[in-house]
Formats: sequence, structure tokens, C-alpha cells
Amino acid sequence: MSGAYEDAYRLSLENPQAFWARAAQDIEWVRRPRAVSKELPSGLVSWFPGGSLNTCYNAVDLHVLAGRGEQAAIIHDSPLTDSIRSISYRELQDEVARLAGALLSLGVERRDRVLIYMPMVPEAIFGMLACARIGAVHSVVFGGFAAGELAQRIQHASPKVVLTASCGLEPGRVIAYQPMLEEAIERVSEKPQHCVVLQRPQQAWQFQEPRDHDWETLAAASPQAGIAALEAKDPLYILYTSGTTGMPKGVVRDNGGHAVALKWSLRNVYGVEPGEVFWAASDIGWVVGHSYIAYAPLLLGCTSILYEGKPVGTPDAGAFWRVASQHGVNVLFTAPTAARAIKREDPEGKRIGDYDLSELRSLFLAGERADPDTVAWCERALDKPVIDHWWQTESGWPMAANCLGLEALPVRHGSPTRAVPGYDIRILDDAGDPLPAGETGHIAVKLPLPPGCLRGLWNDDAGFQQTYLERFPGYYQTADAGHFDEDGYLFVMSRTDDIINVAGHRLSTGAMEEELGLHPDVAECAVTGVADELKGQVPLGFVVLNAGVERDDEELEAELVARVREKIGPVAALKQVCVVERLPKTRSGKVLRGTMRKIADSEPYRTPPTIDDPAILDEIREALRARGYAS
Ligand code: COA
Ligand code: AMP
Repeated sequence: MSGAYEDAYRLSLENPQAFWARAAQDIEWVRRPRAVSKELPSGLVSWFPGGSLNTCYNAVDLHVLAGRGEQAAIIHDSPLTDSIRSISYRELQDEVARLAGALLSLGVERRDRVLIYMPMVPEAIFGMLACARIGAVHSVVFGGFAAGELAQRIQHASPKVVLTASCGLEPGRVIAYQPMLEEAIERVSEKPQHCVVLQRPQQAWQFQEPRDHDWETLAAASPQAGIAALEAKDPLYILYTSGTTGMPKGVVRDNGGHAVALKWSLRNVYGVEPGEVFWAASDIGWVVGHSYIAYAPLLLGCTSILYEGKPVGTPDAGAFWRVASQHGVNVLFTAPTAARAIKREDPEGKRIGDYDLSELRSLFLAGERADPDTVAWCERALDKPVIDHWWQTESGWPMAANCLGLEALPVRHGSPTRAVPGYDIRILDDAGDPLPAGETGHIAVKLPLPPGCLRGLWNDDAGFQQTYLERFPGYYQTADAGHFDEDGYLFVMSRTDDIINVAGHRLSTGAMEEELGLHPDVAECAVTGVADELKGQVPLGFVVLNAGVERDDEELEAELVARVREKIGPVAALKQVCVVERLPKTRSGKVLRGTMRKIADSEPYRTPPTIDDPAILDEIREALRARGYAS
């Protein structure tokens, strides 16, 4: 007998029209869609054509009208400022409508871009929703990125307005945003016309007239903006994510498919009901923050926790349990790296006992592979279901999960369980042919993708085709590798490209290589991700110096590390660079990054038959041994 998950999954693939038509009833439309989907030449579909809606209305105003006005929409819990602020749906409506009015007064029109470079404060979410209210397209840039990454995004998205704050906060230090934003603006050809700045007490912003505006003054003086009726296909946001080159990819999400899929997912994947408390312990700069701090909890009428702190050190390894207990969190979502950090400081999970976690039903983990040890530790320590689930910026919501809202399936450690309804996941070999259970290959999703997934890349149709659709015609290429077991459980093992995953942050080794390569003493370089007990992976750089350069290795390495930190941001976490004589390459000149990674991680490797000179691998091993790798 099949269960609720099996029934939903089958219906979603056999009759997606019926499946998604039903989910779409949960959204308040200005004009109901003409159809559920319409095929596009790319092989994707346009979801809910003819439909018109407003995402902000569905996430905010609707709940006030429905009697949730006094319920907390957002609770900002900030151990870094020692404060807790609760914002009701009614307050949220007022803040967002006035900020939207401010954007209109600055000349922001439909489809204009607004870049949001902000720390974990509620105003960041006000900014996203204000854009959604008037049909502007937001692009949030993670606060841990520095001037170089910021400049690339401003250059590409050409925002009319930047919403920012005077600073972000990290344990023990204040991150002044102005120097980074000024440098980024200096570097771009088309400058933003306005910056709206949230002045935080920890750091003052030097206002530049007439470009800069004080957030509070401007919003207070602005009338509330009305709600724009947008086409389902209109872009809601652009979120840049690391690709294999130094240039990030601008993933574009629409309004209609996004609202339907996100609301459906919170209920059916995470098992959350309206009015409950959901906490995604991530950052609004990542997709997890977009989908599960901002949009999904608000679309469903939940209370969303916005946490400005760390799993450890703010003040201790009990921080997550304190927050969960204090705010009655029902479902918590974080990255495995956060769980590893807690486990390292509190191996017995003793601090959990200090708090009442009776409201907490489950813990979801994603952002990187959830190693079985970490999952087992969380299960033991919490005595609640711990659910690994797999997705990416491009999908916007889970592709494989144990859908607790439908039916809890038995957990298998190391697997994010089964494909989520809407996703027809296949494992393909290099030629694009399907592989049987047990065999590892490329993880691909048969087209069309369900609603909520990317519609394309901002101003880059060719890049979209080439990155995701060309390699396996008829499929979306996830760039992850893995296999199914006999029961349809998916195992996601690694990336098939040069993207690495550091503490749940997706980073491009290509971007770091570009920065290292710009140093005047560097002839060529490579960056690879090596295993790290806490962060999963960390980047490790190799550089070959220009002929004739005589430098103290240590001094140069420190300079290179500082350069990447300054240009890309501290989040790149590149802490070690090895100066080597040569890089191992194939005869055609391709750097053997994978082989270097295996040597560093002391894994067995095969000397590639196409290698130019096998002796280089011995040199690399020696250089790595000197730094404590390759034991
Ligand atoms: N602004 C400025 N700097 C930031 C930043 C931000 N928003 N976020 C991180 N950084 C800095 C950190 O301070 C750190 O700097 P350091 O090199 O001076 O120590 C550096 O970037 C690396 O950050 P990160 O890799 O996140 O490590 P961390 O020391 O801040 O925390 C853990 C690491 C172990 C606590 C980690 O487990 C964690 O919780 N990471 C976040 C997981 C996450 O939310 N992932 C998102 C996907 S769900
Ligand atoms: P991001 O786009 O930043 O969310 O990163 C997405 C990538 O993180 C995926 O393509 C995977 O490589 C990895 N990832 C995310 N969740 C998981 C998971 N549960 N298991 C294995 N890898 C994961």
C-alpha cells in the first residue's frame, strides 16, 4: 500500500497540472492564472501564465486581514547586540509599505534592481518585501563578501538603489560596510543613484550628499506604497551564486511559481503549520535565508526567527537551544557545520538539558553533505527526527528530503531520503544515459523543473543554457554527483565542478584563483578544497612564482591570504597557500586539482595517464606534508 509521500510524488510527475493547480489555490491571486504551465523554448515551463499576484501582499497584508496582525512575524534575536526585537505582522506591513513608498520616491520602477547589502537585521527583510511590493527586483549580497564580489554584483545587476547598513557584527569585531561599498561603487561603470543607509550605533556612516539617505528619516517621511499587481512570471529577485568561473551567476526567481512552491514546501516538506515558529539559522544573503528566513515562513503566516549570532561563542554552545526554547521554535533548520561546531564544544550535548525544547519537533540540515556521524550525534543529543535534505540556490527549495509534512519515511544516514514531489531526479552517466541503482553518476532533474526553481540567469541566456541544460539535453544538470539505492534513497556525494562548500557556504575556487593570479609575483595558481573537520571543506591555494622572484615564502603566503580576504571576503576562509615549483597538469594543460585534493586528504589516487610529468606529484606531496597535510 502506498503512503502519502508516494501518492503525492506520483501525482506530481504524472499530473503536474492537477498537483500544482491545487497548491496554487493556497495563494491569493489578483487574477487567477489562465493555465498551470506553458512550455518555453528552453525546455523549462512558465508557471501560472496569465496569473497576477503580489508576493508581499501574500506574505504580509493577507495575514493582517486574516487576523494575524498582532502575531509576531519576525523575531530578531541578536546575541551580538544583546537584544531581542519582535515585529508583528501589522508592524511589518507598516515598515514595508513605508519603505516601498521611499523606494518609489527615489524613482524605483517596476523591474528596476535594488541591491541589498545588509547584516542580519529585520530591515534586510523589510527591503526584500518592499521591492516585492512595488515590483522592483532585489538582489541581496551576503555581508561576508568584500568589495570585489560586491562590485561584480553591482556591475552586473546595475541597481538604481542600494539598501545597506553602517555595519555588520561578527564576534569581537565590527564590520564597517562603507569602505567596501565605496570601493565597489568606485569600480563599477554604472553607479547606483541612491544609497539608503540604516545607521547602527556600533559604527557611523559618513553620508555623501545627495547620494545617501538615512533609512529611518526617509521611511518615516514616506507614504505607504500600494500593492502592485505583478505577472506570475515577473522577476522577484536575483541571487548571485558561485559558478566555476570568477563571475557569479545571477539566479532569477519569478513571483508566481516561487510563492506557490515555497508555501507548499514549508507545510509539506518541513511539516509546519500557519502560526508556528520556524527558524532557519542561516543568513539572508544565501538562498536558505531568502526561502526560509524571509519568504516561506511569512507566506505561511508563521513566526520567523532572524538570528544574529553563531552556534558557538555567542556566548556558548547552548546558543541554539536557548533561542529554540525562548521563542518556542517548532522546526529548526541549519547547516551540518553548525552542528559540528556545537558538538565539538559540547560533545555530550549537556547544554541541551539546560533548556525546554518540548516545542521543537525536528531539525533539518542542508547546505553541504550531512555526514552520518553528525546526524547520529544530533539524533542522540536531541532525541528528535534529524532530517538531511538536499537542494541548491538554483532550485530555491528542497529537491530531496524526508517530507515530514506528508509522511515521515525511515531515515538512512548519509542520504537526504527521496526526491521531493515535483522533481524527477535521475542519475546519468557521462553520455547522458540513465544509470541503475547503486551506480554513481551525474545527478540531473528531468525537465520541466517544478515551480520555484530558477527561470534563468540575469542577462545571461547563453550562460543559462550552457551551465545547466546543454550537457544533458532534456535535463537540468545539478553539478552534483551521487546515486540512488534500491529503495530510491538518494546519496549526494560530491560536486562535479570546481565549486567547494566551506561551512555550508558555496564558493568558487575560480574566483579565488583569479585573485591569487592578480598578484604581481604569481605566474600561475590553483585552488582546491581539502577536507576540514569543522567546515567540511576549506580552500587550499598553490602558487608558482614568476621567474626571478625571490621572496620569503611565509611573507608572500600571508600577503596572498590577506589579498583574497580583502577582495572576496573573510568568508572565503582561504588560510593557507603553498608556494610550489610547478603545478601538476595534463598534457593538454588542465591543472589536476582533483589529484592535488586527494593527495592533501591522504586519499588513494591514480596518477593520471595524461599527466605531463608524474614527478610533480611527489613535489606537491612534499609541499603539503610540510604543512601538515598528506600524512
Ligand atoms: N560578515 C562579515 N564576516 C563574516 C560574515 C558576515 N556576514 N559571516 C562570516 N564572516 C567571517 C567570519 O567572522 C570568519 O572570519 P575569521 O576568518 O576572521 O574568523 C570568516 O568569515 C569565515 O566564516 P565562517 O566560515 O562562517 O566561519 P565562522 O567562524 O563565522 O563560523 C561556524 C563557523 C563553525 C560557527 C560555522 O559552523 C557556521 O555556523 N557557519 C555558518 C553556517 C551557515 O549559516 N551556512 C549557510 C548555509 S545554510
Ligand atoms: P547552495 O547553492 O549554496 O545552496 O549550495 C548547493 C550545493 O551544496 C549543492 O549543489 C550540493 O553540492 C551542496 N549540498 C547542499 N545540501 C546538501 C546535502 N544535503 N547533501 C549533500 N550536498 C549538499
